[in-house]
Amino acid sequence: MSSGEANTSAHNSSGAPGRRAPVIVVKDLIKEFGGRPVLEGVQLEVHPGETLVVMGGSGCGKSTLLRCLIGSLHPERGSIEIFGRNLANLDEQGMDEIRKRFGILFQSGALYNSMTVAQNVALPLEEHTELGQDIIDIQVKIKLELVGLREHADKFPAQISGGMKKRAGLARAMALDPQILFYDEPSAGLDPVTSAEIDRLIMRLSKGLGVTSVVVTHEMDSAFTIADRMVMLDKGRVLKIAARQWFDDLRKLTVEEAEGRPEDERLIRQFLRGDAEGPITTRKTVNNYADDLLGQARTQLTPMPSIETTRRFFLGRRKPPE
Ligand SMILES: Nc1ncnc2c1ncn2[C@@H]1O[C@H](COP(=O)(O)OP(=O)(O)O)[C@@H](O)[C@H]1O
Ligand SMILES: [Mg+2]
Repeated sequence: MSSGEANTSAHNSSGAPGRRAPVIVVKDLIKEFGGRPVLEGVQLEVHPGETLVVMGGSGCGKSTLLRCLIGSLHPERGSIEIFGRNLANLDEQGMDEIRKRFGILFQSGALYNSMTVAQNVALPLEEHTELGQDIIDIQVKIKLELVGLREHADKFPAQISGGMKKRAGLARAMALDPQILFYDEPSAGLDPVTSAEIDRLIMRLSKGLGVTSVVVTHEMDSAFTIADRMVMLDKGRVLKIAARQWFDDLRKLTVEEAEGRPEDERLIRQFLRGDAEGPITTRKTVNNYADDLLGQARTQLTPMPSIETTRRFFLGRRKPPE
């Protein structure tokens, strides 16, 4: 074990989670696509053993952040430290070593359709370990039992339900006994009951096995069930990172109580409640109209234009001014 990670072991169970060195430290993260910034200075820390839920509107950069954390996207600027190692300083082999210590459950579950559930779960063990087939078989059984799928080991993905596929994906993500699990929209497309099952499973893995979890979700019921802390992203920045209780208190404010709060907090409150009216809606109609209409051309329009400016911009392009 290298010196930088001495404090982050899941076996070091003394003290509150916040007191130990963070497992992940993100500083000033900037990620662009084709010159367009998607993450604009993200800062956050993930504490050992906690479940951090990442929230934010669609397209705000949640999946991009996850992809940067797992090293599949390279940020333009800023740094990501995992287990005390700066990802930017790792070569492929170093990155592989880190990757073995985390599991990923992406939106689709991403099982191989031509392989049985058991073969899918065995895959990481075959690729990343020297274990013999008999040991791998036992490991696979343990992981499938963990997610309640042991009886379905020999089925193919096409023969099982969406929720079971997610659970199989989770068993595969757990194959190498990871210390961190990353989830991207784990309950997307599932019915409420199945989605609640997945939540229970996430909590069992987190609290029972001490796995640190980073979960992207826009399902608020799920977020408030599983989170220790929550982070709200907006336009590529961290609007707020705080304990679940902080968000819960904000969510429960009445309209009158919310009125005196700063705009950011009213915006978060609207998001948490899924209200049709509020600062998000106002902002959309005032500012983001230009984004919707013009896409990439927006960069030519600084500062952010009003609807009237946008309308004139369009008219100007489409037909000569009268
Ligand atoms: N590979 C990519 N190339 C170009 N643009 C991308 C790519 N991935 C994501 N984006 C853009 O980055 C923004 C954030 O995407 P994403 O992180 O997937 O959002 P979220 O997961 O919050 O819905 C979106 O505008 C999306 O179109
Ligand atoms: Mg996404």
